Amino acid sequence: MSMISHKPPPPCAIVIFGANGDLTKRLIIPALYNLARTGLLPGRLALIGVDHNKKTSEEWAGQIKDFLGTVLAKNNEEIDNGLWEQVSRSMTFLSGDFEKPETYSQLKDLLAELDQSQGLGGNVLFYMAVADRFFPTIAGKLGEAGLMKDDKGFRRLIVEKPFGHDLASAKSLNACLLKYLKEEQIYRIDHFLGKETVQNIMALRFANGLFEPIWNRDRIDHVQITVAESIGVETRGKFYEATGALRDMIPNHLFQLVAMVAMEPPVSFQAEDIRAKKAEMFRAIQPLALTDVVRGQYDAGMVQGEQVPAYRREPNVAPDSNIETYAAMRLKIDNWRWAGVPFYLRTGKRLNIRSSEIAIRFKQAPYALFRDTPVDELDADWLILRIQPDEGIRLRFNAKRPGPAMMLESVSMRFNYKDYFQQAPAVGYETLIYDCLIGDATLFQRADQVEAAWGLVEPVLQGWQNTNPRHFPNYAAGSEGPIAANDLLAKDGRSWRAIRILGGK
Ligand code: BG6
Repeated sequence: MSMISHKPPPPCAIVIFGANGDLTKRLIIPALYNLARTGLLPGRLALIGVDHNKKTSEEWAGQIKDFLGTVLAKNNEEIDNGLWEQVSRSMTFLSGDFEKPETYSQLKDLLAELDQSQGLGGNVLFYMAVADRFFPTIAGKLGEAGLMKDDKGFRRLIVEKPFGHDLASAKSLNACLLKYLKEEQIYRIDHFLGKETVQNIMALRFANGLFEPIWNRDRIDHVQITVAESIGVETRGKFYEATGALRDMIPNHLFQLVAMVAMEPPVSFQAEDIRAKKAEMFRAIQPLALTDVVRGQYDAGMVQGEQVPAYRREPNVAPDSNIETYAAMRLKIDNWRWAGVPFYLRTGKRLNIRSSEIAIRFKQAPYALFRDTPVDELDADWLILRIQPDEGIRLRFNAKRPGPAMMLESVSMRFNYKDYFQQAPAVGYETLIYDCLIGDATLFQRADQVEAAWGLVEPVLQGWQNTNPRHFPNYAAGSEGPIAANDLLAKDGRSWRAIRILGGK
């Protein structure tokens, strides 16, 4: 997230492990293409794909190009051959087994050859676009082959979530990575931080004089963070059975949203300053008790007019599965800014709509002047940061309804991104990949942050594992989640905002 004007990154090679995989085709290549569109690809680039199948470089380039065509067609676009040429220049496929040392010695020779012929300055970005079981192997073998030595140019490694599936596995993954790499060579991607609306939280808080003075327990009553999805587990039943909603979404995506809202202002936008503030914030979160969390699993129901099956009837899901597809929790951050201001988090699949937002509720004004107004007409003020889909910001406050009597109504001021900015086509990975290429780690997670996040949810994971959920399934597909989630807030005298798209101007 460069704070200076953008310029193309230095020459380099990008090596993608998992060159035929979904992530490469759906996100990485389209992101590189979009970077070419904005002039932000390295002027000299070699793109090397590594995967286990046998194919020529021409076949690989042809398949990747065809897939890119289908991605662009969704936006009624066709491939621009000039841009494609910038991406596909020196596209080389290396067929090899990730477990075998010879793959890495061949890769080493190939890199040396391309570095020499293209003048890449020894710079290499490795991208592990593979299942997480390969992370330790690939990182270890790259290290053993001497490929992570950065004495000539930069050597960086991108790791995709999941970074472990509990505290112990996260620690062991970090230990494996750090055996051959320095922390500053590792870029752990959380794709939520690639979203413009998430990056904008820092601009909102720190580039305006208006918000920061009221961003604390004196003025804020509580915060609600919602990441609602209308899709089910689709074809990922096997993955989901081993994961569940909590592991899939909370220690990573939702905690990153919490960090953006709750961290103290950093002294600069340098990666280390921001990461230090986030780490400090994680340390202030109080240990979670089982009474602070709620889990749910969807039953059959109607989602946007379509009848959909229960989770337990999805492909590759056990008919008596106890895996949660919904999780909600109350976090307490015990520091001077946030003591007494709960952060309520919820996320789930097969909810009524896809809608993600951060809603900040301000403290109620004293009632004295409006003693005769019915209490339900006196809503408190809300600042709502819409993450997706109707990206923008809303400020809700009370206004006088026209007429002779002093009647109040909650109204809203709206900023919609699309009204102000023309968005360049993006898949959400452009900024993240660009940042890796220029060596800006601001939007990436450091090992201690990952471990702190897992440490926080660990007691819940253990508690849930040891007790069977009694009423699964406990929410209908197409609803707003289980009733128990309402009770979580009701205990504190609060209630969730309705999950809906705000739309409008
Ligand atoms: C992924 C989860 O990390 O994030 C998925 O594994 C989830 O289960 C997805 O659907 C949500 O991301 P987005 O960008 O579509 O909101």
